[in-house]
Amino acid sequence: MVDETDNTPKGAAGEPSPENKVKPPERQYPEPRKVLQRKAAPPEPAKTGHVWDGIEEYDNPMPRWWLWTFYICIIWAVIYMILYPAWPLVSQATPGILGHSTRGDVAREIESFEARNEVWFQRLVETEVAALRDDVELERFAVRAGGAVFAAQCSQCHGSGGGGVQAGGFPSLVDDDWLWGGTLEDIHLTIAHGIRNETDPMARWSEMPAFGRDGILEDEEIDQVVEYVLAMSGQDHDAALAEAGAEVFEWNCAACHMEDGSGNMDLGAPALNNQVWLYGGDRETIRHTVVYSRFGVMPAFAGRLREAEIRAVAVYVHQLGGGQ
Ligand code: HEC
Ligand code: HEC
Repeated sequence: MVDETDNTPKGAAGEPSPENKVKPPERQYPEPRKVLQRKAAPPEPAKTGHVWDGIEEYDNPMPRWWLWTFYICIIWAVIYMILYPAWPLVSQATPGILGHSTRGDVAREIESFEARNEVWFQRLVETEVAALRDDVELERFAVRAGGAVFAAQCSQCHGSGGGGVQAGGFPSLVDDDWLWGGTLEDIHLTIAHGIRNETDPMARWSEMPAFGRDGILEDEEIDQVVEYVLAMSGQDHDAALAEAGAEVFEWNCAACHMEDGSGNMDLGAPALNNQVWLYGGDRETIRHTVVYSRFGVMPAFAGRLREAEIRAVAVYVHQLGGGQ
């Protein structure tokens, strides 16, 4: 170690050598505080005494930000309890000074919704039934409102899309084949008064006789007329029986189903000369219809629904595809 305070040159006198160079004394700087702090071992924090598998729990204080959030939450809770319903009592909660209630909100919303709809319902009732689809805006409202009515009141019989359910004799409302008529007025009347029900004196009414059960036709005649209906609808049939059936049909069936089997909407008698069937067009089903008849019933909706709703659902059915 070279003594820096000793400035006397070393080595041979007067000869410059690296050892002989005069060195300034090294200055002593105080160490920065940060470094000092880092050096000092932090004091071991207190422990709670909880140990899990050798892992100990420190008893550190909560972070400041956490504590403050906690206090603010408490203050908020107190304010909230004063303003809003909070403490459950026997039949209802403390009301809070703002008088707020979610039930009230819903009631107010429904009220304003109904008030808005009322204007349209009024227009529906004031417009001629036949002209309900002339006003585009009114039609748009009617289709939406009618769709909701249909889903709630009609779909259980006619199917959710109005496609009908043949097994139940519930006709399709989406095709252009109509039993009782497909104009807006016809559809409106069908819905308002229903079909063959006992409750509405204005219900659409007709009754196909039970040709077999009531002994109106012999078994043989029934066989013949069934083959005739099969022939008329373009299906496989026994030609000889069908030929004989033509006369049976003319005498017993044409009054309602017309001579050519095209049906009669005044009587709700379906066309038999096409491929659209209410109950089914195979030999067995036709035979069953002729022997026992059917008597499909639809309830009346006048009184159950508001007139405006009946009109809306009539528009909905009319625009499903088959409206005339
Ligand atoms: C309980 C079952 C049932 C309900 C509910 C019902 N219908 Fe019907 N509906 C029938 C039956 C059955 C017929 C066919 C009756 C017949 O043989 O003529 C029919 C026929 C109709 C027809 C005549 C179809 C045609 O070809 O002329 C229309 C239109 C109609 N329904 C609309 C509705 C609407 C709209 C609703 C709801 C508001 C509704 N129905 C609710 C059973 C029902
Ligand atoms: C008084 C009128 C009337 C007479 C007469 C009548 N029908 Fe009908 N027929 C109807 C009506 C109405 C229906 C609709 C079914 C119902 O009652 O719900 C129908 C339905 C049918 C159906 C079912 C069609 C389908 O789409 O599923 C067949 C088949 C049929 N008739 C055949 C006959 C034959 C065959 C005769 C003669 C032997 C006859 N009908 C006589 C009124 C009549």
